[in-house]
Amino acid sequence: MKRQSLQMIPAERMKVLPTQFFAKLSTKVAERISQGYDVINLGQGNPDQPTPEHIVEAMQKATANSKYHGYSPFQGHRFLKEAIAEYYAREYQVELNPDTEVAILFGGKSGLIEVSQCLLNPGDVCLVPDPGYPDYWSGISLAEAKMEFMPLREENQFLPDYEQIPPAILAQAKMMFLNYPNNPTAGVATSSFFKKTVDLAYDHQIAVVHDFAYGAIGFDGEKPLSFLQTPGAKEVGIEIYTLSKTYNMAGWRVGFAVGNPQIVRLLNLIQDHQFVSLFGAIQEASAIALTSSQQCVSDLVALYQRRRDHLFKELDLLGWRAQKPKGSFFSWLPVPEGYTSESFATLLFDQAQIAVAPGIGFGEQGDRYLRVGLLTSEARISEAAERMKKLGIFHT
Ligand SMILES: Cc1ncc(COP(=O)(O)O)c(C=O)c1O
Repeated sequence: MKRQSLQMIPAERMKVLPTQFFAKLSTKVAERISQGYDVINLGQGNPDQPTPEHIVEAMQKATANSKYHGYSPFQGHRFLKEAIAEYYAREYQVELNPDTEVAILFGGKSGLIEVSQCLLNPGDVCLVPDPGYPDYWSGISLAEAKMEFMPLREENQFLPDYEQIPPAILAQAKMMFLNYPNNPTAGVATSSFFKKTVDLAYDHQIAVVHDFAYGAIGFDGEKPLSFLQTPGAKEVGIEIYTLSKTYNMAGWRVGFAVGNPQIVRLLNLIQDHQFVSLFGAIQEASAIALTSSQQCVSDLVALYQRRRDHLFKELDLLGWRAQKPKGSFFSWLPVPEGYTSESFATLLFDQAQIAVAPGIGFGEQGDRYLRVGLLTSEARISEAAERMKKLGIFHT
């Protein structure tokens, strides 16, 4: 007798998860390349440079160490937590207790999803930036919590205006996500903004999650501020850092959360049930990355700054006016009159084989912008500008 095939019925929680925006974009680009097109990919956020050699060598050596071949300790090796504390003390003059104020993460992304599971109940309100990094929404949706958007506007340097949040929303809000240097707007935070954030968090009992993924990438000699440098920040929230961008280690999946010990404890608890910990050799190489010379980071920032300046020279020649980014490796460009972010991105993709991220993928407020990455050579940036010029859309 022929058996009836089994129908896999997804759990309700899976229905709230849309297809991941960047996963969709990468598939589209990969398909076009496989058809033989020369696509210039300015849409991705994947660093194009290799991990610095001394970190790779440390990893190669550590891989041969049999002490790492078994399970790593739950919550990670203490030497990595000490290296993280040393990094924060050296770079930001922030003191951290490695045992209670540091949680090792499988990339920043996992922490961003986990923190919503740790703090939000169904129906709770979480404040999120619009535009913002879509993973915040995924974690909040999985927790069945509600999002309230904080618009990031150019006239306010892409910082949320807390005065505009209705008091009823502030009274309900339990958590908020912030991210500076910002993806996608490339805005940076000021110390007065972070101070206002701590005050708001205290006044309304809101836990702050500051995503510091682009913490190392500040231009024109300006070092981006850590939220934890603000007096009182550790009492109200955490900062999530990643080695993905600072050391071109996106494939290694190493991140960490630092700050409020209550949140750190919850992150460690949820992770105890999901993972053991990262491969010990990765932890050793990560500790070396954080504690050895940071020349590789300065060189990387200089490279991105040269590319930014090159892109803006080309944009200027095209007649495409935009704000020069102060941090992150993105530029946030307004779309020409008569287009939406999606229609202009589609035009560039179909007629010039240039992939960019349409701003709508980051929220409603993003629909007048495109996100362009600085993750390709100056020659390819010029080639992209040449192709755009041929479209005849811009006028000097
Ligand atoms: C704003 C922001 N946060 C977090 C991440 C996650 O980085 P990872 O999971 O590689 O640590 C990214 C990656 O692109 C990002 O752009």
